[in-house]
Amino acid sequence: MDTHKKLVLGIFGFGVVGEGLYKVLNQTPSLNASIRKVCIKNSNKKRNAPAELFTTDKDILLNDPSINIIIELIDDAFAAYDIVKTALVNGKSVVSANKKMIAEHLPELLELQQQTGLSFLYEAACCASIPVIRNLEEYYDNDLLHSISAIVNGSTNYILTKMFEENLSFKDALLQAQQLGFAESNPTLDVDGYDALNKWTFLLTHAYGILPNKNEIIFTGIQNVTGEDALQATRKDCVIKLVAYAKKLNNGKVAAFVLPQFIKKNDQLAFVRNEYNGVVIESSFADKQFFYGKGAGSLPTASAVLSDISASRYDYRYEYKKLYHHKPNELTNDFYVKAYIGFTDWSHIRKDDFESIEEWHSNDQLNYLIGIIHFKKLQENDWWKKNNVSLVLSADPVIESLEIDKLKKRSLELAGFSGGYSLY
Ligand code: HSE
Repeated sequence: MDTHKKLVLGIFGFGVVGEGLYKVLNQTPSLNASIRKVCIKNSNKKRNAPAELFTTDKDILLNDPSINIIIELIDDAFAAYDIVKTALVNGKSVVSANKKMIAEHLPELLELQQQTGLSFLYEAACCASIPVIRNLEEYYDNDLLHSISAIVNGSTNYILTKMFEENLSFKDALLQAQQLGFAESNPTLDVDGYDALNKWTFLLTHAYGILPNKNEIIFTGIQNVTGEDALQATRKDCVIKLVAYAKKLNNGKVAAFVLPQFIKKNDQLAFVRNEYNGVVIESSFADKQFFYGKGAGSLPTASAVLSDISASRYDYRYEYKKLYHHKPNELTNDFYVKAYIGFTDWSHIRKDDFESIEEWHSNDQLNYLIGIIHFKKLQENDWWKKNNVSLVLSADPVIESLEIDKLKKRSLELAGFSGGYSLY
């Protein structure tokens, strides 16, 4: 192992993260890394770096034999995949922060890593400054990992914090997130939950050895969460967060989704405010562990890229242990959740989808219900994603089918009849 290996970098992109990396590298001389070239799309933009560093020709970087590592920090997932693929085939290690590209191409990228034996690292692609991928990869055995609750999108967390703590409008809070460089260039990716979904797909690979298809995971963002929902949260001593969640069920299968959730005010995730991200891991024996740090922004994201560059010096690679060396887990939608549904019109709600409804208000002041619903119903029908309907899961949201069966049986016994059941 050559820990003094000289790294010669070819960087793609000089936006929020690319420029951050440039600054961070200039402050880390001990890394023994030099930037050979930076490939950009628009040569007319003024950049805070010497002009001779830049080119618009990607092949200058990809075909330069002196460059041994490509750092891919561009926005366009389609172009990014092409760059990463070519770099690996041309014998260069790669560091990327492109969550959409990784979520869409991980199977092909796994194959390329196996074929080339080169490292492809992407710690910055999920939770920016928090080293969550390497921890899931290296530290937690498959069997020990009970559940993960995570805030993985900084912009939506920033918006929720500003709306509910400072009464800022959704629009103004989003504008701030954009100005501060947290939001995607198309902020719908943040707001509607796509970015969190992308991150969650490959985190599930490192956590549980699952290679999910994005369509398998039920998700939404914060687009329909209202001030009224926040008020209900406060009444229940909770806050609302967009949570990426996974839990290993008693049958060994994994429940996973990205949905807004009520979080008790004394829960660790409630302390995750603004653009910070947080990950709570529950494992056998260790109980709960909490990872916390900035989840978006120039220098926090660049710090994770820097750490991957540094790890490449000693040829660190993800081994995808849970995928290749364990029996990989399977996803399931066969469980129930307890959900709050806010609405403006009762007729928009498919109440027959619920197993039971334990609270229901439909009047001038209050319009919401709280009930138990089978998760497959959320997959089959999307009434809960429509405008003017907001779904927020309860704290500790997953209820296993067995528990519901017991509840149904008990309600039948109590009712003293044998036909049909109702938990209402
Ligand atoms: N738009 C992303 C976020 C950037 O807000 O989390 C970091 O991945």
